[in-house]
Order: sequence, then C-alpha cells, then structure tokens
Amino acid sequence: MKSFAPVLVLISFFVCEAFIASSTSTKKRNSSITQHRSFFGFGLDEKQASTSTKDNSLIQKTKDIIQNKSGFYSPYDADVFAQDFVFRGPFVGPLNKKDYLATMDAFGIYKAFPDISANAWGFNIDPENPNRVWFMVRNTGTFSGEPLIPDTLAIKPNGEELNGCPETFSIIFDEEEKMKYLSVGYVADRFDGNTKGKGAAFGIFNVIGLPLPKVGPVLSFLQWFGSEVYGKPPLSYSTDVPEWWQKKSKDKSSQGFL
Ligand SMILES: *[C@@H]1O[C@H](CO)[C@@H](O)[C@H](O)[C@H]1NC(C)=O
Ligand SMILES: *[C@@H]1O[C@H](CO)[C@@H](O)[C@H](O)[C@H]1NC(C)=O
Repeated sequence: MKSFAPVLVLISFFVCEAFIASSTSTKKRNSSITQHRSFFGFGLDEKQASTSTKDNSLIQKTKDIIQNKSGFYSPYDADVFAQDFVFRGPFVGPLNKKDYLATMDAFGIYKAFPDISANAWGFNIDPENPNRVWFMVRNTGTFSGEPLIPDTLAIKPNGEELNGCPETFSIIFDEEEKMKYLSVGYVADRFDGNTKGKGAAFGIFNVIGLPLPKVGPVLSFLQWFGSEVYGKPPLSYSTDVPEWWQKKSKDKSSQGFL
C-alpha cells in the first residue's frame, strides 16, 4: 500500500491541474490600441512593447518562467515565486510555494520527458487585471528519460509521445513582479491531441499507461489521503495556504472542471 497514495496524487495532479487566481485590482485599461490591433488580428505579441513597458515586461517574464523556471518544463528558479505563491488547477491545489516546489522535485517531469515543451502562445494581459498574463499551451514530449516520480513509483520510460490538447494558463504577478499565482490545465479543446481530451496531467497519464480514476468521491478521498495522511510530495493540495487565497476559495482539489 505504500505506493497507493502517490499514484493517486499523481493522477490528481496530472488531471489538467489549473488554478484560479484573483487580484483586487480591477482598474480598466485604456484599450483603444488593443481594440485596434485585435480588429486587424495580427502582431499582438511583438507590438506589445509599443503599448506598455509593464505589459511587455510581464509577458517576457511569463515566457521565461514557462521556458526556464517552472519546475515542470525545466528546473525551477525559486526566486521568481512570491512567498505567498499559490498554484491551482481544476483538480490539483491550492499548493503553497514550498509544497509546489517539493511536488515538482518529486515528479521530475522534465527529466522523464527530456524534450517536454509547453509550445506556449497567445500571451496577453487581462483587461480586468494589469498584473495577470493569460496564455495557451499545447504540451509535447517523449517519455524517454529518467523514471517518473523516482523516489516512490519510479515509473519506467516507455518511449511514448505526448501530444496534449490546448489548455489555458495564467500567471498573476505581485507589485514586485514575483509570481503570486499560477493557474494551469483548463482544457480549451478536448478533441485535439492524443490525450483523449485530458490536460497536462491526465495527458501524461495516458502516455505513461496508468489507469485514471474518474473525478468523484474516490479521487477526492485519494487526494485527501495523499495530502493529509500520507503527507509527502507529490501533494495534491497544501494544508497551509496563504491567506489571500483562503479569501478567494476554500475548495480543495478535484472540482472536476473537465
Ligand atoms: C486612450 O488613449 C488615447 C490615445 O492615447 C487617448 O486619446 C484617449 O483620450 C484615451 N482614453 C481614455 C478613456 O483615457
Ligand atoms: C531561457 O533561457 C535561455 C538561456 O538562459 C535564454 O536564452 C532564453 O532567452 C530564455 N527564454 C526566455 C523566453 O526568456
């Protein structure tokens, strides 16, 4: 039974995890330039610099985090995470900074999938929140590296290819431009890719050949057991969550936004 909890947690984690973040800022932006650009429908990313230096800086930071610093697609850089960081997906989270980083260490995804890529695109600033960057990913990679979750399950690479479906991600930055919130895994077209409509997590499950529990009481129990009883990473939610998040939601894991 030793490996039971981590399997479940893995499942829950990979199930298209995503987070919902919030910010108190709802200032309306002057959107005349944005509207003009969207009307013509091109050049949105590259022309951003002419719109606002801050927008451009946050979008560059987002690209750098996803490519180089997340712990999922590459080793993490703990410095880019705010102390009150929260991670949330539809099934996994809220995870605080410590638990998120420990969970990334436990999975070793970028080592198991040496060519993993988010193939991210469509970076843009939330018109309701100037500190929030939205973007899409379509994960690809080959399970050809080291075993996944090496310390417990050690799932052996099988050479299978991951071609994920498009998913919506977002990052909210704080005033110091540290990452305060990361939301991932909201599937935008479940008919795309080879993961049967599953996002990052479930997509990877399909590829590594593990059975997936359906969203429901069993999965919820397993997530509860993994986080509260077993208590070792990978975790599906934190028991100690920053206060700002608790004001937004007390929900833990597995809400089932499939
Ligand atoms: C928005 O920006 C344009 C161009 O700089 C300016 O002419 C216009 O007055 C601004 N509108 C608002 C509501 O601030
Ligand atoms: C990722 O890191 C590499 C190496 O430091 C750098 O050249 C590249 O520009 C970074 N990517 C982004 C999107 O900043």
